[in-house]
Amino acid sequence: MPVLVFGSVNADLVFALPVLPAPGETVLAPGYATLPGGKGANQAVAAAQDGAPTAFAGAVGDDALAEVALRGLREAGVELGRLAWVPEPTGCAAIAVDRAGRNLILGGSGANQSARAAQVEDAALNPDTVLVLQREVPAAENAALILRARARGARILLNLAPAGEVAPEALRALDLLVANEHEAAWLAGQLGCGADAASLHRALGVGVAVTLGEAGAAAATAAGPLRVPAFPVRAVDTTGAGDAWCGVLAAALDRGLPLDAAMRRASAAAAIACTRPGATMPRAAETAALLG
Ligand code: RIB
Repeated sequence: MPVLVFGSVNADLVFALPVLPAPGETVLAPGYATLPGGKGANQAVAAAQDGAPTAFAGAVGDDALAEVALRGLREAGVELGRLAWVPEPTGCAAIAVDRAGRNLILGGSGANQSARAAQVEDAALNPDTVLVLQREVPAAENAALILRARARGARILLNLAPAGEVAPEALRALDLLVANEHEAAWLAGQLGCGADAASLHRALGVGVAVTLGEAGAAAATAAGPLRVPAFPVRAVDTTGAGDAWCGVLAAALDRGLPLDAAMRRASAAAAIACTRPGATMPRAAETAALLG
């Protein structure tokens, strides 16, 4: 299975609000949407819709929200044989979006905390595999899977979202770390280095890509620095844009694209995701059309 995503899967409750609530405030939306989400599931859907054979390993509860959470994966044809059904509530996120497209996300991890590296068998971790991880499942499970994948020669991409601890030996076993500006700044504070891709690459010794919103994305690897521009769009909701970026990057790398072309494609996909409400991943033809 070329792209294998280990991570979170949620049901997202999306509220379009006039303004984001301040602490203690109640803000009413005229309605709300119930959509599949979770950074891991979004990335798997993005990779599959970009044309990569994709599998997902994570955990859901045996409840009504599981059907919502899994809908996007099923519709995209993601292979779900490694999914665990656990006695915890399915992960859920409440997402508020204001008129400027800014969001505020509250996540209830639930079953995501029961995702285990052991759900992925060794045979699935080989040099043909692009393993994709994020930080919405237990850090120890991510680290265990990364170290097994490294020993077996898989290519490993970790999205540092949301920002937080990663075992140093796991960080240094990656092929590519992907972070947005906030996550990069958090990691730079931990490492005592600059928050740009080159500084993080020097500090970690692994490839680093930093997404920069309207300024595009930068990367630094042993082959040198890279920079790609953003695709200008009218953003209505940036939720899931980072997930589209990571999933499409993984699919493009799986197809053998060089990193700069893969980053350009990922940036186009992320731009499209920003034009839609909720974490809505683009299809390959839409991304290709924006790339021109
Ligand atoms: O990145 C967006 C995702 O973050 C949402 O789908 C939500 O479920 C949270 O995991």
